[in-house]
Amino acid sequence: MSVSRKDFPEGFEFGVATAAYQIEGTRNGIVGPSHWDSYAATLGNVVNGENGDVACDHYHRYGEDLDLVRDGNFDTYRFSTAWTRVMPDGRTVNADGLAFYDRLVDAVLERGLKPSLTLYHWELPEVFADAGGWSNRDTALAFGDYARAVMDRLGDRVGAVATINEPWCIAWLSHFLGLHAPGMRNIRTATRAMHHINLAHAEGMQAIRASGSKADAGIVLNFAWPKPESDADAKAARRFDGIHNRWFLEAITKGQYPADTLDGLGPYMPDGWQDDMAAISAPIDWLGVNYYTRTTLRDLPGAVWPAFEDVPGPLPKTDMGWEIYPDGLGDMLTRIARDYTGDTPIIVTENGMAGDDHLDGQTCDDPVRVQYFDDHLQSVLRSIKQGTPVRGYYAWSLLDNYEWSFGYDKRFGIVYVDYATQARYPKASYHALKDAIG
Ligand code: FCB
Repeated sequence: MSVSRKDFPEGFEFGVATAAYQIEGTRNGIVGPSHWDSYAATLGNVVNGENGDVACDHYHRYGEDLDLVRDGNFDTYRFSTAWTRVMPDGRTVNADGLAFYDRLVDAVLERGLKPSLTLYHWELPEVFADAGGWSNRDTALAFGDYARAVMDRLGDRVGAVATINEPWCIAWLSHFLGLHAPGMRNIRTATRAMHHINLAHAEGMQAIRASGSKADAGIVLNFAWPKPESDADAKAARRFDGIHNRWFLEAITKGQYPADTLDGLGPYMPDGWQDDMAAISAPIDWLGVNYYTRTTLRDLPGAVWPAFEDVPGPLPKTDMGWEIYPDGLGDMLTRIARDYTGDTPIIVTENGMAGDDHLDGQTCDDPVRVQYFDDHLQSVLRSIKQGTPVRGYYAWSLLDNYEWSFGYDKRFGIVYVDYATQARYPKASYHALKDAIG
């Protein structure tokens, strides 16, 4: 790699990220059902009908996995707690579940790593899904109770905490595009989820602060660089940008929603939403930015709002079909700080790619991923040089894992997982990052 730790400011954190449902194995310990279980059990939703029952068996193998994080010279381990493990019925604390996360956090600290906790990375307890899920305001209120239970137990030891991972995926991808659990396609349901997920963030922030935890508290948003297919598609790209990028950022930093997005969503908003905006924009200590790709937009004149579609772009693509566009990361970081977050520290909480990875004996060569990391880190550096307060960069992901609707088909790890044996094999990208940040 062309970059190394010394190119970055003093104290810059390198990390790796994971999420509970994608690695732990829900058959391990006591775990209640989540909407991902029933979504995956519905024919046609997930490749091979796969689910998180076994995943990477991280529940039993976390020690070995955290050794890999330490030995890779990383500083931070980003993970999530599962609401369904902490509260299998959504509301009652399960001592066995909290005890697992207690052991996990201690194991992270014992290895000299900083624990960075995400409270919601998508496994909504079914009891809430049955009552309308994120389209129901009560789900956001219940999330606050769950957040408090986790912080009361772990808040004295985690260095950072994020309320929600990727509200756009939770609301729009899952309720408008129908591509994640619960797989709905309805603008009213989606709009309500677009607001209630921000309310959940507000409830989560209040719970974190009330717990007395000193952890830096924030939220993780996902961004895609909007690219009009041609000059005629500029307005379509702007509409996409409103839904995907500005809706959450503007709510959290300015306490308002973008006017161009309210043009479409306004009629479906829950009554009294304006009264929630002050809590939604309570100060955060840091912003997490997930970035993978850009999106090319084509206008659909005459179609119903938002009247655009995304179309394949010309750049080389990852195994997900996502264009590799490193400039979009630095440009987005610069834009976020300049227009929204100012001096608030930003951490790149996810960046990485799925590759067509194969094991050759004990090794796995993934040169495209090495180049991907190198180019994106260079892009981060350019933004830092422009004055953006970027304080860390976490690779997605430590392990190959359950990639949601794509099941185990897509491999994002810097460590290869042989699912038949659960053996772990660090890929060339793991070694490249280890050398670069050593
Ligand atoms: C992000 C998710 C993460 C993983 C990566 C590839 O949207 O936060 O769980 O699926 O994409």
